[in-house]
Amino acid sequence: MTTPVDVDWDELRQRAVLAAQDAYCPYSGLRVGSAALCDDGRIVVGCNVENAAYGVGLCAECTMAGQLRLTGGGRFVAVACRSGTGELLMPCGRCRQLLFELGGGDCLVDTPRGVVPMSRVLPDAFGPEDLP
Ligand code: THU
Repeated sequence: MTTPVDVDWDELRQRAVLAAQDAYCPYSGLRVGSAALCDDGRIVVGCNVENAAYGVGLCAECTMAGQLRLTGGGRFVAVACRSGTGELLMPCGRCRQLLFELGGGDCLVDTPRGVVPMSRVLPDAFGPEDLP
């Protein structure tokens, strides 16, 4: 994996807020957007897509994982999640696992504590290497 030295966090955060504008969230009313820098330098984004059967709604990071695959694959290098009004949001537990799968422990995450690696956002994660 090639990790770009510089991450333009302002750009990533702005792209997350922009993606949140496309959210489908008639039930929670919370627009969520995520944006990730990929290891080839492109940015992929996602937004939450809710459902009348509440439990099957999709988080922003989930649709972003699909976008990663649909637009050329690769790995997440840096991730930012924001509400539609610009507040920082942390990925939920399930989404941390999704991000770990496609970015690993070195993927950088924008958190209230600053930018930290996924290994600190999801410590001792279960991952592909734990499978026989
Ligand atoms: N949500 C996300 O999109 N990502 C997260 O990591 C946390 C929660 C969405 C799911 C739901 O549509 C709304 O936020 C309220 O829970």
